[in-house]
Amino acid sequence: MENATESELTAEVLRRLAATPDPRLREVMQALLRHLHGFAREVRLTEDEWMAGIRFLTAIGHITDERRQEFILLSDTLGLSSLVDMITHGTDQSEVTESTVLGPFYVPDAPWREPGESTAIGGPPGEPVLVRGQVRSAAGDPLPDAVLDVWQAAPNGRYDVQDPEQPAGNLRGRFRAGDGGRYEFRALRPADYPVPDDGPVGRLLAATGRHPWRAAHIHVIVTAPGHAGLTTHVFDSASRYLESDTVFGVRAGLIRDFAPGPDGCTVDQDFVLRPTGPA
Ligand SMILES: [Fe+2]
Repeated sequence: MENATESELTAEVLRRLAATPDPRLREVMQALLRHLHGFAREVRLTEDEWMAGIRFLTAIGHITDERRQEFILLSDTLGLSSLVDMITHGTDQSEVTESTVLGPFYVPDAPWREPGESTAIGGPPGEPVLVRGQVRSAAGDPLPDAVLDVWQAAPNGRYDVQDPEQPAGNLRGRFRAGDGGRYEFRALRPADYPVPDDGPVGRLLAATGRHPWRAAHIHVIVTAPGHAGLTTHVFDSASRYLESDTVFGVRAGLIRDFAPGPDGCTVDQDFVLRPTGPA
């Protein structure tokens, strides 16, 4: 037998995947390996660099647990999460509210709270904020059965799951919309914060001359019967990092003024969902 050339090796790897029963798995794996081999050939990847990559991915796995999701953080900081969001939901969001990345700090089953209640149940103090608006369908119909699942970092820039000073569930909550699809909840004005940069993703950001900061935001997942779920943020227009958000998550239609008032600030944000079928 004759030794394969570089390109013959790639062709043989792809050929061995040709019998993959699931056609989508076959398509994804063949494209992934075509690009992976192409990348290694393009940069003439050395054995030391290959081993550094193995060690990097191993470190990502080791630091990941129930409270820290370094793989999502890696995907976010590489822009891949944002790209998948764009592929899934499109970039023309003129009829529905723009979506953006989930991020690594979502915790399912947040506490249910009453309309108008504050998600701030302890931890660092901050400027109170009232967030209010309407949830409606793209056709304009209000969605009184909508649920908003909200979460955010405290004014010290840390989520409850990162911070022993905060009670579990601080600055998280689920709220039901009411008559006319109207909703409101109270929280604290979010701060710009750095993504966790004491692990492998932080080292990669530093090595590539990038800052770890995210533009101040409140996360929201809005769901309603008969409509596609919306995973999005509300960004503070006063943030310094709207142009350089480290996870590429800012969308123009999600930037809001946090209007100051005597009892804190108020944010008006409607959420418009795409119908999927009968409710
Ligand atoms: Fe966040």
